[in-house]
Amino acid sequence: MNIEFRPVREEEVDDFIRAESRGFGCNATDAYLAHGNRLIEADRTLAAFEGKRLVGTSTSHTLKMTVPGGAAVPTGGIAWVTVQPTHRRRGINTGMMVQQLHRIHERGEPLAALWPSESAIYGRFGYEMAAFGERWTVERQRSALTHSPEEQGQTFFVDSWEARGIFPDVYQRVFSVRSGMVTRNDAAWDDELSGTPQGRSVAEMFYVVYELDGRVDGYVKYRIDRSQSRLIIFELVTATDEAHAALWKFCMGVDLLDTVEGNNRPVDDPLLWMLADPQRLRRESQDALWLRLVDAPVVLAQRRYAKEGKLVIEIQDSICPWNNGRFQLDGGPDGAQCRSTPASADLSLSVADLASGYLGATGYSALQRASRIQEHSVGAIKLMDEMFATDLKPWCAHDF
Ligand SMILES: CC(C)(COP(=O)(O)OP(=O)(O)OC[C@H]1O[C@@H](n2cnc3c(N)ncnc32)[C@H](O)[C@@H]1OP(=O)(O)O)[C@@H](O)C(=O)NCCC(=O)NCCS
Repeated sequence: MNIEFRPVREEEVDDFIRAESRGFGCNATDAYLAHGNRLIEADRTLAAFEGKRLVGTSTSHTLKMTVPGGAAVPTGGIAWVTVQPTHRRRGINTGMMVQQLHRIHERGEPLAALWPSESAIYGRFGYEMAAFGERWTVERQRSALTHSPEEQGQTFFVDSWEARGIFPDVYQRVFSVRSGMVTRNDAAWDDELSGTPQGRSVAEMFYVVYELDGRVDGYVKYRIDRSQSRLIIFELVTATDEAHAALWKFCMGVDLLDTVEGNNRPVDDPLLWMLADPQRLRRESQDALWLRLVDAPVVLAQRRYAKEGKLVIEIQDSICPWNNGRFQLDGGPDGAQCRSTPASADLSLSVADLASGYLGATGYSALQRASRIQEHSVGAIKLMDEMFATDLKPWCAHDF
């Protein structure tokens, strides 16, 4: 079998979308083709061909990701990864994922990220869990709050076309302060608010905003599921604590329902600390965003650190050889530098393990206890934990 890897041509885009849909066990509907055509950047696809037959699909969306300190770092957002069920376990996905990383590097994007369908797939390519989301289920009858900010503003419904004009600004405000957030371009916003075939029909969605002094500070997109007597939050994004409390209260106040379910909540959503009966809040943790440091020294220099410190980090990377070696990181709250060094290492770790703590999702000491990191200088991992700590936990609101 001879497999050719290349981007699809314009005239192959529909076939590519059909193959991707089939890879997930679905036949592409017209709505799905429209969704794919809206979002595709054909030159960033990488497909696998056996002769003329399309047997593997992948793409990388053009994104930027906020990293600790606020820099927006160019990121390849890997998505639409499938191999046809007739061609699995022959190394086709491995070929696509390795080539995607090299192409992302050639584009000068030092990060890659993805939302995996199964967490066993991507570790071998140097990705690791870097931001979590939680599914929260609140019983309405047990949703009284003991603490919450005083609300001066008001909530009201908007249509999807009004939402299109309002939501991006709120999203942008959160993007600028929360690491792990990625940009959502116009096409993605159109898709998000025009009834996506992956989500639910736009007719079933409700959009509510919180406004104070003429400015919208938060929004929620939800639908009602009468069969299970629940309100399902698809996206709740707020730029102020007041808007956060107001929109949760709004959702928990909708009548004739038993529960409110919030998907992909940040792990540090303060609702937990507002509820009178937090034991009745059910939390299910999900590994959401997986991160790949495509150019590790570059991204180490792009974030800011909670504490001044100097560390020599030895990185192992079997796919991106430019990351292999020892690098001296000098970082602090005001800036950072990271350079190759002949000095002996304070600690050694894989590029994937480095990614897991890069946004602040975990301390590296947890990875040490899991036997994933080797410390060579006593105290190095403690210093690394202190340097990489963040005020807010990373969160990615956009599943691309
Ligand atoms: C996941 C998928 C893309 C893998 O494609 P593939 O071409 O079969 O993968 P490869 O042959 O390159 O496999 C490489 C390695 O990954 C492992 N692997 C692949 N898919 C895996 C999975 N779902 N779970 C665990 N391991 C997996 C293989 O066993 C192989 O390991 P080995 O080298 O130790 O034998 C393919 O199974 C698929 O299309 N699945 C359905 C759609 C999907 O889930 N896509 C991912 C979206 S994020």
